Amino acid sequence: MIQESSEAVVMVIHGPNLNMLGKREPEIYGRETLEDIDRGLEDLGGRLGLDVKTYQTNHEGCMVEAIQATIGNHQGIIINPAAYTHTSVAVRDALLLVDFPVIEVHLSNIYRREPFRHKSMISDIVSGVISGFGAKGYRLALRALAELI
Ligand code: DQA
Repeated sequence: MIQESSEAVVMVIHGPNLNMLGKREPEIYGRETLEDIDRGLEDLGGRLGLDVKTYQTNHEGCMVEAIQATIGNHQGIIINPAAYTHTSVAVRDALLLVDFPVIEVHLSNIYRREPFRHKSMISDIVSGVISGFGAKGYRLALRALAELI
């Protein structure tokens, strides 16, 4: 008999330039690398009973495809669309397709920064937003998802 796993699968999607974390404006984004963040999330996911997958892209269309690919086989998304947060109708439309919890994360507090960062194209359609807690924000988001799923 094939044993089906009951672990919920969560996709963590990181947008453009987040592959440079550690080197990129560390006074704003901190010193943890994306690799550190992703490994930490996988570990925490194991403790919370969540199977955590991670993906980073610098391309808007790839982000849309990654969101679409979660449909039917994932139970939650954590997304930091980075600069696309402020511009992408395509990312918003893709997120409107999913019917499970989505949490928007930003390392920095986007509301304490330049006015063009105050507008998010997705905040009004996601389950919740965590902004301004650095890398810890991803871990808070994963704990929130564990409760929501
Ligand atoms: C960011 C904030 C965005 O304004 C910026 O373009 C990023 C990162 C954050 O995590 O604080 O690339 O999403």
